[in-house]
Amino acid sequence: MKWLNRLCFIGLGLGIVGLAQAQPWVRNMVDQPSIKPQERSYLLPVEGTVPRSGREPKRTWDEGNAVPNPLPHTQAVIKRGKVLYERFCSVCHGPEATAGGGPIAKIAPALTTPDLTMDIYINVRKDGYFYEIIRQGHILMPPYDEGTNVIDRWSIVHYLREIQKIRRFQP
Ligand code: HEC
Repeated sequence: MKWLNRLCFIGLGLGIVGLAQAQPWVRNMVDQPSIKPQERSYLLPVEGTVPRSGREPKRTWDEGNAVPNPLPHTQAVIKRGKVLYERFCSVCHGPEATAGGGPIAKIAPALTTPDLTMDIYINVRKDGYFYEIIRQGHILMPPYDEGTNVIDRWSIVHYLREIQKIRRFQP
């Protein structure tokens, strides 16, 4: 009968543990008034808050055109833009953003670029438009949203404005 005693003992033990688990005083860290994964925060960010990382929403060219350049037109920003322009854009657009100014046009004529110092690019297209072109690409031009961050892209636009100041489209 020893085995029966043991079985009863084990059964009783399990029963007590089970009962204790079911009691309202049993709490763990998950069970608390906090925002769970996939749940929405009740606290909305302060008005005017803007995200500093993550993916930006998809914008049309017109929506992009309306976004102002948040960076000042300083030498430091222009310098950064120059480095990035030479790294990412020069190969197709050339150092002076001339039509088909980069070496790629000789190998792949389909990638011949427009002159970015034409009147439309200087006076009609705003900084935000160029920003979106860099981010999303344009027809045959690849997007640069992965190789650059927000500050990089606005800096490139500042540098492009410098090129436009120095050189204007000459037919
Ligand atoms: C692989 C070649 C290539 C690279 C690199 C490239 N572009 Fe382009 N880009 C093009 C071509 C080709 C066009 C014209 C045809 C088109 O719009 O697809 C163009 C067009 C543009 C336009 C004019 C869009 C319009 O509205 O007409 C802008 C502005 C521009 N590129 C800026 C840039 C900047 C800034 C960079 C660097 C971040 C860059 N591109 C890198 C090939 C390139």
